[in-house]
Amino acid sequence: MSAPRTLVVVPTYDERESLPATLAALREHVPGVDVLVVDDASPDGTGEVADAFAAADPAVHVLHRQGKGGLGAAYVAGFGWGLERGYDVLVEMDADGSHRAVDLPRLLARAAQPDRPDLVVGSRWVRGGSVVNWPWYRELLSRGGNTYVRLALGMRVKDATAGFRAYPADTLRRIDLASVESHGYCFQVDMTWRVVRTGGHVVEVPITFVERVAGVSKMSRAIVAEALTKTTAWGLAHRGRQLRALVGGARRPARR
Ligand code: GDD
Ligand code: MN
Repeated sequence: MSAPRTLVVVPTYDERESLPATLAALREHVPGVDVLVVDDASPDGTGEVADAFAAADPAVHVLHRQGKGGLGAAYVAGFGWGLERGYDVLVEMDADGSHRAVDLPRLLARAAQPDRPDLVVGSRWVRGGSVVNWPWYRELLSRGGNTYVRLALGMRVKDATAGFRAYPADTLRRIDLASVESHGYCFQVDMTWRVVRTGGHVVEVPITFVERVAGVSKMSRAIVAEALTKTTAWGLAHRGRQLRALVGGARRPARR
């Protein structure tokens, strides 16, 4: 079998200072993969920086969107672009240097193992994973958020909000991407939950997450609120289904 065609989707909003190093590292450490930058008309001109890279390198592509539509919408658009063009594996990666290109070959190798995972998550919160230079409140938010997700949804995934992942194209085709409404980082939880609920096999590979040195995080109160509200709603729906299956004498096999 020939090597899978891989596309790394990199969403950007005001990442002018960070994007060049991210693209250079990808081209250096994983030269066989293509890259799609999905820029939401960044006011700082990140879109033009990406265009300059694309003009000089046929492996780099750019998708320009009209305005800031959130991380989730950017990924849905990027995945659609990649699926239309027949890529076999689609990767999510931040533009700000937090996800290291040197870790990507390990994620891709895991995705290609014979057990064929439906999703490979680059995880900060498994043994061997770590975060460098995060303030204590970000670590608390991520650890607390992930604990809440595990309790609410009953998923065993340790880093459900992780943004460094590899999806086989089949997984994304199975998920109804058009119905994904999550805007912010809860897109990551939403996608993980969709994979788990459709019986998918999720594996976590440890990564080192390095806090950005340039630019600012787009994390906001609204993003945290959306994640909390949506996770709670999914959890209640899930527990309701479990309860009905129990009370109804499990006439149908219970779904997880
Ligand atoms: N196109 C587009 N549109 N890109 C966006 C948008 C948007 O509305 N919002 C954020 N991004 C891009 C950023 O430019 C960056 O490349 C990436 O998405 C991640 O955004 P950051 O703002 O750097 O996220 P973070 O470092 O606070 O959060 C990290 O941790 C979260 C929680 O664990 C990321 O890894 C998230 O993916 C993760 O969910
Ligand atoms: Mn970041």
